[in-house]
Amino acid sequence: MDRNQPSLPADLEVVVERILPGGLGLAHAEGSTVFIALSAPGDRLRVKIERVKGNVAFASVTEILKPSTDRVVPPCPYFGRCGGCDFQQLSYEAQLKAKVAIIKDCLQRIGGLREIPDLQITPAPRQWHYRSRAQWQYDAARRRLGYFESGSRRVCDVAECAVLVPELQESLSALRERLETDSLPGDARDFRAVAGDQGVSLSPGISNPDGIDVQRSIHGETYSLNAESFFQTNADLLTQLIDVALGDARGESAVELYCGVGLFTLPLARRFKQVIGVEGDAAATEMAGVNLVNAGLSNAVIANEAVGNWVPVNEFNPDLVALDFLLLDPPRTGAESRVIAGILQLQPKRICYVSCDPATLARDLKKLIGGGYSLDSIVAFDMFPQTHHVETVVHLKSL
Ligand SMILES: C[S@@+](CC[C@H](N)C(=O)[O-])C[C@H]1O[C@@H](n2cnc3c(N)ncnc32)[C@H](O)[C@@H]1O
Repeated sequence: MDRNQPSLPADLEVVVERILPGGLGLAHAEGSTVFIALSAPGDRLRVKIERVKGNVAFASVTEILKPSTDRVVPPCPYFGRCGGCDFQQLSYEAQLKAKVAIIKDCLQRIGGLREIPDLQITPAPRQWHYRSRAQWQYDAARRRLGYFESGSRRVCDVAECAVLVPELQESLSALRERLETDSLPGDARDFRAVAGDQGVSLSPGISNPDGIDVQRSIHGETYSLNAESFFQTNADLLTQLIDVALGDARGESAVELYCGVGLFTLPLARRFKQVIGVEGDAAATEMAGVNLVNAGLSNAVIANEAVGNWVPVNEFNPDLVALDFLLLDPPRTGAESRVIAGILQLQPKRICYVSCDPATLARDLKKLIGGGYSLDSIVAFDMFPQTHHVETVVHLKSL
């Protein structure tokens, strides 16, 4: 905190103004900015200051003096301790409203955009029991299995998780039974699981061999996947996500950066003569290759390389001159500066940016728009109910 500022009392009364990117509520009190976890816009709260960083105090709720009309009673008994969900205190309508406001806030403040096209968010078909991919932390010494506690590496022991699909809940329960009989591998730090149309891939495996593949059919394509490689968490919205991301794109050539096991690569290969996917994870790259072969698609290749290394080398690839379409779906950290610079060199006619972090999306859009692109459309998907996370799909066109 600023040295010239008066120090804050440990307990404060605040009114929450809005929800910020990252999911914390914003309030001002005693000349300071206060960020409050698990709050709702309009809440009048008594809060405890947990820590101070620069000009911002981070606080937790000690008493709800007057609840916001957006507030609901969180149904999960672990809520507040478990680091998994941070929006269960908000009605679903308020969650959607907060996510739209978070995206707009990032686009304006970080992206420097003055005019934002109308922004619709597609709600999740299931607000609970939607998560078909999970990572459970395992503390063998304390015999705990669950998720990290909020802001800590301590494992919150979770018997039932309200956002897991039933198949993954069964896997979690089966692991817990093994925990009780001491038959979980003592050296495992975590377990990863993904549900397919039939069956669950679990790593490390317990009753099945490690890395067993499962299949998932989405939008007429069948994908093999396993617990080791990335796959989208909410399978319910994937058909719509693919439709919006690809729009009416078709033509000669497309590049897909951060392609994973090929969720967008297969549909792209149906619409473009030549497709190049780039993926850093070797297992996902191999799986994307298998998925293309199984789909009978031979017009797409997958490069197993860090995107930051691939793009600069390929800027001047003559095959990629007059590139029709480039889709990128990076991790939360967004695209490195050299990736954005490389995209600007490649000069695709159209770009689709699929993002799970509005702040890094806005940072990268600023550079792309500054480099000669204009914003065509922006659509959000609530892929992660009960959390502040949101998926955004942005289309850009060359000026
Ligand atoms: C958000 S996922 C998207 C995957 C895919 N589009 C999908 O929807 O299933 C990001 C992917 O980028 C990969 N990745 C992360 N950093 C990378 C990098 N620097 N270079 C290449 N791939 C990377 C991850 O392994 C992961 O598969």
